[in-house]
Amino acid sequence: MYRENWKSKLGFILAASGSAVGLGNLWKFPYESYSNGGSAFILLYLIAVAVTGLPIMMAEIFIGKSTNRNPIGAFKALHPSAWHFIGWLGILSGFIILSYYSVVGGWTLRYFFQTLTGAYLSMSDQGISGDFVSFLRNGQSQLFFHSFFMLGTIAIVIFGVRKGIELSGKIFMPILVILLLAMVFFSMQTPGFGKSMEFLFQPDFSKITAQSIIDAMGQSFFSLSLGMGAIITYGSYMQKNEPVIKDAITIVFFDTSIAILACLMIFPILFSYKIQPAESIGILFTTLPMIFLKMPAGIVIGPIFFLLVIFAAITSAVSLLEVVVAYFIDEKKWPRKKATLFLGIAIWMLGIPSALSNGGWNWLTKIQFIGNRNFFDTLDYIATNWMLPVGGIFIAIFTGWIVSVEIRDDSFARDHKMAYQFMIFLLKYITPGLVLLILLHGTGVI
Ligand code: PFF
Repeated sequence: MYRENWKSKLGFILAASGSAVGLGNLWKFPYESYSNGGSAFILLYLIAVAVTGLPIMMAEIFIGKSTNRNPIGAFKALHPSAWHFIGWLGILSGFIILSYYSVVGGWTLRYFFQTLTGAYLSMSDQGISGDFVSFLRNGQSQLFFHSFFMLGTIAIVIFGVRKGIELSGKIFMPILVILLLAMVFFSMQTPGFGKSMEFLFQPDFSKITAQSIIDAMGQSFFSLSLGMGAIITYGSYMQKNEPVIKDAITIVFFDTSIAILACLMIFPILFSYKIQPAESIGILFTTLPMIFLKMPAGIVIGPIFFLLVIFAAITSAVSLLEVVVAYFIDEKKWPRKKATLFLGIAIWMLGIPSALSNGGWNWLTKIQFIGNRNFFDTLDYIATNWMLPVGGIFIAIFTGWIVSVEIRDDSFARDHKMAYQFMIFLLKYITPGLVLLILLHGTGVI
């Protein structure tokens, strides 16, 4: 059967960056580093990216590129044994993550409309914070926007690899970078800039706990789209003669820079206007409308910026859905349209309780799951902090120890020999053990 592929080499890098750069960078990273004391968390995050993120990114590209299959098919093609359960774990993770990711994607839609219609023009800073909190309690409204966000995601995936995924990455990524840089430049002019730099770059190690180490590692998997086969799937549309390590470094560098830039945009505003985010998950959504009110041409830049956040979110959501859809196309021979619609609707349904978890269904609001978390936070906690890292451990072991060395050498033929050897060393001896250690430490086992 004909299988699609990227039109150009840049197509893969941009699409994979489109998958990586999303709400994880713009929404999650700033609020996680804010709640974990800033600098020390960022340092842990950077270590996780270098020691676990980069080698696993490379392993996933390799697995996809060498097989041209969806995650389950890829493991089956490389090793005829039970290893394809990693693919199943990935598909399950994609299903769960997209269900609540789309709810937050819906928030970005709402903020786009709010800024477009000038809803915040007459509000005080407290009013803007209060508006976020009341929106969070309004389940119906969240459900409404979640539905639209999911519809947009389904529409792009139906168009397929070249016309849907590749094209959207090529258009949105460059515009996002330019606008983000402009916003950072503006934030740098505000009085809180100096303080925010201290908060971001002078590590205070007393803030580090076992939980923050797990959070930083989980966040690195989430932000780089690793541990669930999204990059395997995108890698599977690559041409055989492309380098692996260079592409992996480019994507990891790009994603990490955007996460840091997002902090550089948001924290000076927090410190300048002494904002105490009522709910830290609202940092992105409360600081930005405030700054748009204060900056020149903010009325115009506001909606444009939220539009770009929507695009960043949608290009990531597309990769989550594509993992699930690719399996049904490759292995079950479903037509793309049927697979996308059927699975998209199923994921949308799983998103309903997340949309209503802070208000809407009272009984659900009252239930507390793991560690006092509501439904939404529980899904995020399990998927990000557990499923992705566990997937990552297996992907590393598989690439380091299990797969045929000839196939692996062949896939890395275009790469620098020493870099390749070093990456394999990490995948064999360092990455899986380290991830496991952090997980066990977090549960208190060691
Ligand atoms: N990396 C995306 C983000 O940072 O928003 C989220 C994501 C996409 C996670 C794809 C996992 C994934 F497979």
